[in-house]
Amino acid sequence: MKKILAGSSSPMLAKNLSKETGYPIASVSIKRFPDGECYVKLNEEVEHAIIIQNTYPDENIIELFLLQDAVRRMAGRMDVIIPYYGYGRQDKIFEYGEAISAEKMARLIEQDASSVILINPHKEHIINFFSIPAKIADATETIAEYFKGKVDMVIAPDKGAASMAAKAASVIQCEYDYFEKHRISGSVVETKLKKMDVAGRNVVILDDIISTGGTMIQAIKQLVKQEANDIYVACIHGLFIGNADDRILQEGAKEIVTTDTIESAYSKVSVAREIANLL
Ligand code: R5P
Repeated sequence: MKKILAGSSSPMLAKNLSKETGYPIASVSIKRFPDGECYVKLNEEVEHAIIIQNTYPDENIIELFLLQDAVRRMAGRMDVIIPYYGYGRQDKIFEYGEAISAEKMARLIEQDASSVILINPHKEHIINFFSIPAKIADATETIAEYFKGKVDMVIAPDKGAASMAAKAASVIQCEYDYFEKHRISGSVVETKLKKMDVAGRNVVILDDIISTGGTMIQAIKQLVKQEANDIYVACIHGLFIGNADDRILQEGAKEIVTTDTIESAYSKVSVAREIANLL
């Protein structure tokens, strides 16, 4: 019997996956010692574990490794689901001397796993860093469903998100367009001025990740100037560093919508069905 093991990043998603699949959630104790070190114990027998845990922030990585270690000592098989694959953005060498964090994470995770599922990793080729069976679940269609009947246009805030916007637009059956962005630093981006056919229309800006919110804010500014009507902001993985969510809402967004890969008050769409389809 398969059992779901929820890491502390993903209790809500674990419940949603349990509802979707009928697999029970196993009892696990996860504690921190006074010095911050993590302790993990499985409280029941598990033969085939489905672990759900993010590799973000750093504390969750250690917790994932300990969950994997505990399972390895008890179960015959474990599928590891990483809803938000943290460290995925450094997926190649941009400058000589750098580490490739996306690859290193894969090397460490695959040591104790039978298979892995990632949800919308920043780049699809990340999956090739794993030498165990690895699959990608794509939540774009599910997030698009949420906006059916609400918007008449999907906007990608940069070219990298254009294919996601195209896919969402085909579900909603509306048009899409994209901005072009230049990243100046980790928290500062510049979006090229672009005239779009948005005046009086309801739009959703869709990206894979919202981190500092800088990318979304630049896009909102242009859409407000161009007199878009309701502006929704959506992403798969909502990190909301600092007060990114407040700043996005203050800038004029009507609503923020994310999935439950990173759980927050904005997790209005679940990726459980996509994961269940791959199990
Ligand atoms: C980058 O290419 C990603 O797709 C996102 O656009 C980026 O991570 C968003 O970051 P921020 O919210 O800090 O602008």
